[in-house]
Amino acid sequence: MKTLFCVSIFCITCILPAFSQCLDDQKSLLLGLRNSLRFDLSFSTKLVHWNHTKDCCNWDGVECDVFGHVISLQLDDETISGGIENSEYLFNLSYLEKLNLAFNSFDGIQIPKGLSNLGNLTHLDLSYAGFAGQVPHEVLRLKKLVSLDLSNNVLLSGTFPNFPENGSLRTIVLSNTNFSGPLPDSISNLTMLSTLDLSNCSFFGPIPPTIGNLTELTDLDISDNNFIGSIPSSAFTLPSLIRLQLSDNEFHGQVQELSNLSSSSSSLQELDISSNNLEGPVPKFFSKLEKLRRLVLSSNKFNGTVQLEMIKNPDLEVLDLSRNDLFVQSTDSDSSLPPLMELGLASCKLQGFPNLRRQSRLWDLDLSSNQLTGEIPNWIWKIGNGSIRNLNLSNNLLHGFQKPYKFPSLQYLDLHSNQFHGELPIPPMFSSFVDYSHNFFTNSIPKDISIFLSHAFFFSISNNSLTGEIPPSICGATDLEVLDLSDNALTGGIPPCLLNNISRLGVLNLGRNNLSGTIPDTFSVNCSLRALDLNKNALKGKIPRSIVNCPGLEVLNIGNNRIEDTFPCMMMKASLRVLILRSNKFYGGLQCLKAIQEWLNLQIIDISTNNFSGGISFLSFSKWWGMTSADDNKQSKYNNLHYVYINQRPCKYGYICRGSSNLDLSSMVEIYYQETVKITMKGLERQLTRILLIFTSIDFSNNRFHGGIPYSIGDLKSLHGLNLSHNELTGPIPASIGNLRQLDFLDLSVNKLNGTIPVELATLDFIGFLNLSYNRLFGKIPESPHFGTFPAASFEGNLGLYGCPVDTSCFMNGSGVSPPGFQNGEVRLKKEIDWDYLSAALGFAVGFGSTVWLTLHCKRWREMFLGKVDQIYLKFFPRW
Ligand SMILES: *[C@@H]1O[C@H](CO)[C@@H](O)[C@H](O)[C@H]1NC(C)=O
Ligand SMILES: *[C@@H]1O[C@H](CO)[C@@H](O)[C@H](O)[C@H]1NC(C)=O
Ligand SMILES: *[C@@H]1O[C@H](CO)[C@@H](O)[C@H](O)[C@H]1NC(C)=O
Ligand SMILES: *[C@@H]1O[C@H](CO)[C@@H](O)[C@H](O)[C@H]1NC(C)=O
Ligand SMILES: *[C@@H]1O[C@H](CO)[C@@H](O)[C@H](O)[C@H]1NC(C)=O
Ligand SMILES: *[C@@H]1O[C@H](CO)[C@@H](O)[C@H](O)[C@H]1NC(C)=O
Ligand SMILES: *[C@@H]1O[C@H](CO)[C@@H](O)[C@H](O)[C@H]1NC(C)=O
Ligand SMILES: *[C@@H]1O[C@H](CO)[C@@H](O)[C@H](O)[C@H]1NC(C)=O
Ligand SMILES: *[C@@H]1O[C@H](CO)[C@@H](O)[C@H](O)[C@H]1NC(C)=O
Ligand SMILES: *[C@@H]1O[C@H](CO)[C@@H](O)[C@H](O)[C@H]1NC(C)=O
Repeated sequence: MKTLFCVSIFCITCILPAFSQCLDDQKSLLLGLRNSLRFDLSFSTKLVHWNHTKDCCNWDGVECDVFGHVISLQLDDETISGGIENSEYLFNLSYLEKLNLAFNSFDGIQIPKGLSNLGNLTHLDLSYAGFAGQVPHEVLRLKKLVSLDLSNNVLLSGTFPNFPENGSLRTIVLSNTNFSGPLPDSISNLTMLSTLDLSNCSFFGPIPPTIGNLTELTDLDISDNNFIGSIPSSAFTLPSLIRLQLSDNEFHGQVQELSNLSSSSSSLQELDISSNNLEGPVPKFFSKLEKLRRLVLSSNKFNGTVQLEMIKNPDLEVLDLSRNDLFVQSTDSDSSLPPLMELGLASCKLQGFPNLRRQSRLWDLDLSSNQLTGEIPNWIWKIGNGSIRNLNLSNNLLHGFQKPYKFPSLQYLDLHSNQFHGELPIPPMFSSFVDYSHNFFTNSIPKDISIFLSHAFFFSISNNSLTGEIPPSICGATDLEVLDLSDNALTGGIPPCLLNNISRLGVLNLGRNNLSGTIPDTFSVNCSLRALDLNKNALKGKIPRSIVNCPGLEVLNIGNNRIEDTFPCMMMKASLRVLILRSNKFYGGLQCLKAIQEWLNLQIIDISTNNFSGGISFLSFSKWWGMTSADDNKQSKYNNLHYVYINQRPCKYGYICRGSSNLDLSSMVEIYYQETVKITMKGLERQLTRILLIFTSIDFSNNRFHGGIPYSIGDLKSLHGLNLSHNELTGPIPASIGNLRQLDFLDLSVNKLNGTIPVELATLDFIGFLNLSYNRLFGKIPESPHFGTFPAASFEGNLGLYGCPVDTSCFMNGSGVSPPGFQNGEVRLKKEIDWDYLSAALGFAVGFGSTVWLTLHCKRWREMFLGKVDQIYLKFFPRW
């Protein structure tokens, strides 16, 4: 009995070490480590359970070798926020091979140098951990390192050092960091490298041709950087490469043809070179890549003709040729295209529908911005027995539907900017996104529309010729976030339930119809409206008080109605950017504005052509931050008035976001909505569909304001337009007006202003339009080269003014002659052309669908679009 006991004791002590019992020194290091780490006990799932009475090799997240040395430490997602910087406890765990500190929040500290003590480390995962700054070189010289993941530490920066010879690294993931600089040539020393993911960093420089030495490379993703140069052919011939992601860079030049590529030698399955500046013909060898599943060439400058039938890659699932300079043709005979899932042929100069009758699993088809005419063939609805989910036919010349037809269950249907007429088609059942805008649809909105819109978050029928009333049943579409019924001929009242039932609604545009009655006082207590446009209707009554339920309202446009109310001071919340009350019957003074503390974002206020009265001299413009601060705000120049409804995971690669067919569209779309606002400038109403943050204007004209202009007007440093004309203002033009360096438009005409024209005004050589006529100004008109370019009409009706340009002698003695290019007419003409260009360029984006589709597919487009607007803007306001 005793021997048996002894034997069993012996056996326990001799066998257990084989199951690795923690060594004391390792255990004390781990306990020391745990005690030194800062972490949240209530969220920790591993550290919190480490118990010194137990074998440390069995602790959660710890793994030992047979000798009891700790070789793996998985402390990911442990809410650790610090305590590793100088942790000898960690750095003395010298047997450690795998260390995972991902998904913690080391609030901006550097990756500790001490990690370089861990000479046995093979796997280091520090992703999503909040590290910042440069990576210590020592860490990158860990000889045995196989996998390094530093991704999603957006503050990690600096260049990457040279890689040592014989580095054993197989996986390098640095995506979503701020690493910059060129890819070092020494990358070719990493002959074992299999995954290199540098996406969304700040790397630049060409790809070194030695990349061709990386024969083990299977996955190369350098998308969304600033790489330049041409793409070396060696990138396409890497024998093991499966995934090649080069999109969203600055690559240019032609892609060299590879005539001797043997079709079976390539392993390439995904090839995405979209959103670069590549040019020339689409290389023929692309269609020989036998294993290719995804070919994305969109948003480049490829040119020439592509015969769709030439694309024969048998496994191809995704093909996107959109937005190049390509002429895509397809024969009408049954196409030999492989069975695709996604096909993008936007802006491909298509003149007819490609034959897709045989496509058996196509779910996403984009034929927008082509020259398609006639009717939509009814076979399109039957593609793959109704497999089609997303269809974009916008920006074509289509005018009808071949009958009989029946929509399959589409989630995205975009028909905007075509020539459709006749009755509005009933939206597909359960669709999420339906855009019928900019067509010629007539008749009325179907009474039972909400049955079909029960899942829709976007519905637009704007810019058609629809008549009749807004059916109250639309209130059943409770998922709607954008409802745009503007620019039609709708009559009747606004259904009260509309403001109450659809509490998700962010944009409601009913502008430019013939709606009558009052604005219902039914704004939901959960109101999430950000833009409400009721412009140009026949609405009467007051602004309902329940509108205060909408704290996020940024745009309120109720101009051109018959509203009879006092100034809506309860609206002047920090969120408000645009307030348009133009052409109504508002009355009373602005006294209530005295109590307003701040309008942080106000950019445009137009209360012109009403019956407002009283003084304005007490207005304290320094509180109007939107107008006082914007000129120092260049970094936010893309921060236009936009609405991001759903902004979860930005859709970077179509594939990731759109790869699965049961995807919920609403979770993947990043939508920008540009509110349409009319601004009166230069006597013309212009439609700005995108209000740049830097654009600001005040229009108080055509009221009965009296008293003086406040000196604080000079605080509105970023003001571009000021119209106080047709009032009864008295006193002098404040000299502070000379501080408005951005001012382009100034109209003070038809008032009772007296005194002289301040010389400061003449220093504003950026003013394109000036009208001081019909006041009581006197004295000499100040002289400046720019001031001399205004016509006499700008000053007429002021009996006491003299000097140029009102003196007829001016032109004779030459002092009023404008410098070349500054001729008045010329200036005006040029600016008006620019306005038109601006409207036209912007008009392109009015159709919401295209914006969505393009922002969805193409970051580059977004930049280009914004860039273009800025260019136009620069041209218009050259000073900015
Ligand atoms: C450690 O384990 C022992 C024995 O299972 C237990 O009594 C003790 O409460 C544990 N300590 C902690 C801190 O969990
Ligand atoms: C770590 O190792 C060094 C050198 O071996 C030693 O001096 C130091 O005391 C150790 N630290 C801890 C916390 O064990
Ligand atoms: C690595 O592991 C070996 C045993 O596998 C050990 O001798 C050595 O001390 C460890 N540490 C370093 C820094 O190499
Ligand atoms: C990224 O790095 C650049 C220098 O390379 C620096 O100017 C910039 O501020 C960094 N951005 C962030 C977000 O750290
Ligand atoms: C690199 O590896 C090769 C073969 O594996 C070997 O012959 C060579 O000596 C190594 N060079 C260095 C510097 O370690
Ligand atoms: C790219 O990185 C920036 C930070 O540097 C981040 O804000 C952005 O979300 C990243 N984009 C994607 C698509 O991951
Ligand atoms: C490869 O590494 C060796 C040793 O570090 C270095 O001398 C060589 O220049 C590197 N190769 C390249 C192409 O940088
Ligand atoms: C890398 O490729 C270049 C040619 O591109 C070749 O001269 C060099 O020998 C290669 N280096 C290695 C280590 O294979
Ligand atoms: C395509 O573009 C290239 C320049 O990249 C030009 O030389 C060529 O003439 C163009 N071809 C066609 C058919 O337009
Ligand atoms: C301007 O008009 C105001 C009254 O409106 C008067 O008090 C003032 O004296 C006038 N100023 C001049 C310079 O005529």
